[in-house]
Amino acid sequence: MSLAAMVLADRSAPLARLYDRWIELATLGRAGRARATVLAEVQPGDRLLDLGCGTGTLAIAAAAAGARVVAIDRSPSMLAVAREKALAAGVAVDWREGDVAFPPLAGEQFDVATSTFALSEVSTDLVALAIRRMAEALRPGGRLVIADEARPSSAWARVLVGVPRAVVAVLSFAVLEGSSTTHRHAWRALVEEAGLEVAAERRMPGSLVLVVATRPPELPQVRRAVRPLDEVLPEGARAVAQRVGAWLALPVGVAPGVYRVGDPGPASPVLLTGNFLGSVDAVREALADRDAYLVVEDSDGWNVWCASDAGRFTAGRAAALIELSGLGQRTPVRRIVVPRLGGRAARPLAALTGWEAVVGPIEASDLPDFLADGLGPQMRSLARMFGPRQRIRVGALTALQLALFLLPLRLLPSAWRRSAAPIALLEGAALPLAHDLLPGRTGVVKGAVLGGATALAGAACGRTGLRGALTTLALAPFVGWVYQSSSPVVFWKRLLR
Ligand SMILES: C[S@@+](CC[C@H](N)C(=O)[O-])C[C@H]1O[C@@H](n2cnc3c(N)ncnc32)[C@H](O)[C@@H]1O
Repeated sequence: MSLAAMVLADRSAPLARLYDRWIELATLGRAGRARATVLAEVQPGDRLLDLGCGTGTLAIAAAAAGARVVAIDRSPSMLAVAREKALAAGVAVDWREGDVAFPPLAGEQFDVATSTFALSEVSTDLVALAIRRMAEALRPGGRLVIADEARPSSAWARVLVGVPRAVVAVLSFAVLEGSSTTHRHAWRALVEEAGLEVAAERRMPGSLVLVVATRPPELPQVRRAVRPLDEVLPEGARAVAQRVGAWLALPVGVAPGVYRVGDPGPASPVLLTGNFLGSVDAVREALADRDAYLVVEDSDGWNVWCASDAGRFTAGRAAALIELSGLGQRTPVRRIVVPRLGGRAARPLAALTGWEAVVGPIEASDLPDFLADGLGPQMRSLARMFGPRQRIRVGALTALQLALFLLPLRLLPSAWRRSAAPIALLEGAALPLAHDLLPGRTGVVKGAVLGGATALAGAACGRTGLRGALTTLALAPFVGWVYQSSSPVVFWKRLLR
């Protein structure tokens, strides 16, 4: 659902116009019915907050029914469509651009807070914060109503729902670097964590759920525990298997959270990393015998660099963890070290938290020197970023992953197969070497450029023939996607979760 929305709506204005028709089609009309169920919770005169309002269908219907509505979305193109629709319907809605977890609210109080199909686009920690924001914005006795995707309860339903999701995911995979944006959160637990009392939880057709909760007179100040890091790291045989997976560049994740390394106190440093096991291990090793707080943000199990490139290592995810754990109360210094390869998150993180966010070294092993003497020139040298050994390893691993991916090619006629497999494997191995020379931010784009150049060069020299050139062109973006640290395991895991 949200996956489809992201693909079609979130990226550009013309696509936002298609959103209303698309979502109805993609959900076989269930989205509209779910919104009607949400709307039944809204009374004339209610002050309503709608988070992730999209093109404003719910907000406009609520305003038409007599509610006073503030509707927030981060997508200007979706809001532009919403404004046009409200104008045509002759209703007034206060449209605001902003993030669900950091909504632009000025202490206003609402009778009802709603969100339909938006929170499944957001990672779990941000959703926890968004629901907390909704709870804080409600008056005592006010109602929270969420309609969104849930994990189907039976295996049979999972398969049934999985098939259309797979089609949409394959489409989005081509467009969006394989990023599935659908999260099926544990809605009830998140709502309760925010201190609200769940009044009803109802399954709706498809994989949808409706949660209605009320705000008690006092909201408890719940803080997430700050646990020792060792508690969440794998142990025994699992540790060995997961570390092998991490070495193979598979995105093996650690539970995101704020952790204690050693016995940190108010003056101890606070460090940020992604939740790839390899990254967490490297930081822990570097901090042996030291005391620190480690914010392990949800980077979908990817290493910081790849995650940052793909927009999965964001300031918002880190800020959410800092706020949910109340870390600011433990460390009045309020200074966080952001890894250099994810350095673009530093400035927005400072803006979101009010903390000082300093960019640290590229390599975790430089952290002790950095903490003692600040940033030395060798710590930011580009050579440390993606050195020859690392490139060769990533190239070999990409080729290995591709070999697995390419097994279905056995179904192709043998002549095509013969040209496809070696091209893909060579390209996979060459991508890391040519990384810096290739334009584009994502692996898909870099892969497409390299594939295009190879196809042209091959055709120009008369080496590959038309079949080789076409195969190279068709496979290139896919190879680039695999290169950027994705894997078949993750792809299917996301689809079926
Ligand atoms: C699937 S649409 C749902 C729109 C609308 N609520 C509906 O019922 O049709 C999801 C919307 O959530 C918005 N969204 C996703 N992540 C967001 C975030 N972090 N902050 C604000 N809006 C977000 C997207 O821009 C998109 O408009």
